[in-house]
Amino acid sequence: MRVPLLDLTRQHALVKEAVADRVARLFDSQQFILGAAVEEFEVAFRDLVGGHHAVGMSSGTDAQLAILMAMRIGEGDAVVTSPYTFFATAGCIHRVGAEPVFVDVEKDTLNLDPIKLGEFLEIRCRKDAEGNLLSPGGKKIRAILPVHLFGACCRMDEIRAIAGRFGLAVIEDAAQAVGAEYRGAEGLQKAGAIGEASYFSFFPTKNLGGAGDGGMAVCRSEELAARLRLMRNHGMEQRYFHREVGGNFRLDALQAAVIHAKLPHLAAWNAARRRNAAQYLEAFRSRNLLEFLTPPVAPAPDLENSHIYHQYVIRCRDRDALLAHLQAAGIGCAIYYPVPLHLQECFASLGYRKGDCPVAESAAEDSLALPIFPELRPEEIEAVADAISGHFRK
Ligand SMILES: Cc1ncc(COP(=O)(O)O)c(C=O)c1O
Repeated sequence: MRVPLLDLTRQHALVKEAVADRVARLFDSQQFILGAAVEEFEVAFRDLVGGHHAVGMSSGTDAQLAILMAMRIGEGDAVVTSPYTFFATAGCIHRVGAEPVFVDVEKDTLNLDPIKLGEFLEIRCRKDAEGNLLSPGGKKIRAILPVHLFGACCRMDEIRAIAGRFGLAVIEDAAQAVGAEYRGAEGLQKAGAIGEASYFSFFPTKNLGGAGDGGMAVCRSEELAARLRLMRNHGMEQRYFHREVGGNFRLDALQAAVIHAKLPHLAAWNAARRRNAAQYLEAFRSRNLLEFLTPPVAPAPDLENSHIYHQYVIRCRDRDALLAHLQAAGIGCAIYYPVPLHLQECFASLGYRKGDCPVAESAAEDSLALPIFPELRPEEIEAVADAISGHFRK
């Protein structure tokens, strides 16, 4: 049986009419740039994430750029983040002129490790005469940017406590974590509502995806929200008067309409991903595969949405051989990510070496994403497990 890594046509069958309806209304209004469709979606998304400001952006990447620009993070600054994430996370930090500083991830979730983070800031960084915390490269550290990788929430209480101790902002990369939840000192919170600011991606393959690129910036303060709106529209409040240099980071009204139509299904889709993850675990157990592979770990097993399985990433021996075997068997699978960011060619000048972030480096060698999308059929999950079993028992 062939099993795709992702088949969006199955989802489309369910939402086709609702999407068509919202898109038709948008066409009737002919308001394609910002306007009611974007505003209504921003309100719905803000409510989903939990009462903060939401500003629609053209992509997750642009949402992150706009946040960094709005917080005036740039030349001479540094932002501490994970080396094991999609490139944009560090790329945006670099693009605003700041230095991405990488601290290794923890073994279980592959999220930024709060213990290593605390040690790094304590031991490897120093304060200047004005009390600013400087990176080993001499840049002023302004923020910590944890990534809720694959949809699993980071240990936010610890990260926020460290940020508080050093006077740093927390910006969440929630691109892969729409609807994920965290239970900490402030009670139950949604990913993206915990730090000072956060950003989401509506790239079509995401748990909540558009019909093209789209993103959202979320923040706690009204002042920052106003600056985000300024940044996404060329720094312009009054037409053709530019207080600052921003960009065109506006969420397309067409994307807002499509994503808004899908929003009511998100909770059920995330639940279906969770059910699929539970079936994988059972399928691996019953085939005695757990000696060969490690399934992903939910950060809080008693909290339903602590992991929303944007990707279902196993760690395994002999990853490349398994990948080749599955591909030959028609099973879709992929490597997220083959090269950790501290070892990317474009960041060579930052001076990182192999061995600097060993957990991220080993994940790059032994992680493999299996199909997990909500509409995956039970027999397809069994077929994936059979194919994995066929490989290890050859
Ligand atoms: C972790 C992470 N950060 C940032 C982004 C950037 O989002 P986008 O592709 O919408 O620009 C993505 C999405 O691909 C992502 O997975």
